Amino acid sequence: MKPQRSQTSPDSTPADLINQHCADILASPTMGIEARCIQHGTTSVLEHSVAVAAMAITLATRCHIAVDEQALTRGSLLHDYFLYDWHDPEPWHRLHGFRHPFIACDNAIRDFGIGTHEQSMIRTHMFPLVPLPPTTREAWLLCIADKIVATGETVEGFHDRIASRKEARA
Ligand SMILES: [Fe+2]
Ligand SMILES: [Fe+2]
Repeated sequence: MKPQRSQTSPDSTPADLINQHCADILASPTMGIEARCIQHGTTSVLEHSVAVAAMAITLATRCHIAVDEQALTRGSLLHDYFLYDWHDPEPWHRLHGFRHPFIACDNAIRDFGIGTHEQSMIRTHMFPLVPLPPTTREAWLLCIADKIVATGETVEGFHDRIASRKEARA
């Protein structure tokens, strides 16, 4: 089925659209797992996922790209729905970067019954590390938004570590 696309409403903030399309996801008890697991620096997986969804919507709005708003918000919010702490020293976590898009997708199908468009967005969000390129504009927006947000969180975490080391030495 062809996605229904339109310009995002300039009167709606990213937070409005996330609440409008993802209320069931945000109310799910599994968000508690995402809130406890760190993604980058000091940012939890839940904070990262919300920030990526907001960034994907912002990019679509600012660049006047017509999108399937529901797929964009839900696929983006669930893109890292892998539900474990990848910092735990489990041997298989070394492959986290390559495996987590598929684990997140399977979990999102099981818990929220996501459609094929959102599934494809989640599976391809780690391109080019995982050599499956995005195939829709929503998937490209997610892939780009994830890299922008992840870079910011990693740099922020790096600065926080330096600042706390300086504090410990003082
Ligand atoms: Fe990811
Ligand atoms: Fe991510």
